[in-house]
Amino acid sequence: MSLHPLTRRLMAPDITAMKRVKPIIALTSYHAHTAAIADKYCDFLLVGDSLGMVMHGFETTVPVTLDMMIVHGRAVVRGAKRALVAIDMPFGSYEESPSVAFRNASRVMKETDCGAVKLEGGRRMAETTRYLVERGIPVMGHIGLTPQSINVIGGFKSQGRTRDEWAAIEDDALALADAGAFAVVLEAMSAPLASRITDAIPIPTIGIGASSNCDGQILVMEDMLGLSPRVPKFVKKFGAVATAIEDAIRSYAEEVGERRFPAAEHTYAMKEEAKRTPPGFPQGLAPVTKKPKKLST
Ligand code: KIV
Repeated sequence: MSLHPLTRRLMAPDITAMKRVKPIIALTSYHAHTAAIADKYCDFLLVGDSLGMVMHGFETTVPVTLDMMIVHGRAVVRGAKRALVAIDMPFGSYEESPSVAFRNASRVMKETDCGAVKLEGGRRMAETTRYLVERGIPVMGHIGLTPQSINVIGGFKSQGRTRDEWAAIEDDALALADAGAFAVVLEAMSAPLASRITDAIPIPTIGIGASSNCDGQILVMEDMLGLSPRVPKFVKKFGAVATAIEDAIRSYAEEVGERRFPAAEHTYAMKEEAKRTPPGFPQGLAPVTKKPKKLST
């Protein structure tokens, strides 16, 4: 665990330089206040397109739009002061051509002030990665399970669990490193393959369901907090936030139902009454002592 002193915000080359130096700590983030908390412990925060599923209730990440990524990206950049903020390019915003990818990624960078973008895909995204990096946009790769391709893959399926799948996935990692990606996410991948890739490439591997053999780890914040109703096998729940939220909402409903909330301390008194409140009494609740009436002579 690292509780960082406040220094400048980390940039993509700082993350690359952490390979073989320290484990890289990352979480997804979609919200300014939780970003401010995670910022104390994380090297980078990813505004992932999983926000479509964990924030907006979609079944997959496919319906997520560029505007949704920008709205959440702005919130996270406002909340985090030190961590690098990387933003996912959503499905349909970069695959068509390097120039379309540049137009949309530069919009994301300008409108959010984030420090990098992430693209799904290995060799097929190498040309686009090079094009963006050469024009000033740091790119994080994402291989293994690539959820934006769910309709082709046929489900959220783990990857590289038979040796005949390895060569293609290793080639994806090498192509992205060669194209100038500063790090690559390995999702839902067998541990020995993640280990081989981590040893083979000069940039950090960030695992999510890819074992502790990676250079760093990332989880979806809502999943690890225990807020998401369904989570993949590789998620460890470090909290029970759904239960905490339900307990609080149940207490609120009970107190409102029984007229116990709001109490006097949550209520505004009239200004005249507040002035007369002696110290130690909640505003407006001091017994109002009537002045004795002057007796008329
Ligand atoms: O969108 C996301 O949450 C991601 C992580 C799985 C890395 O891309």
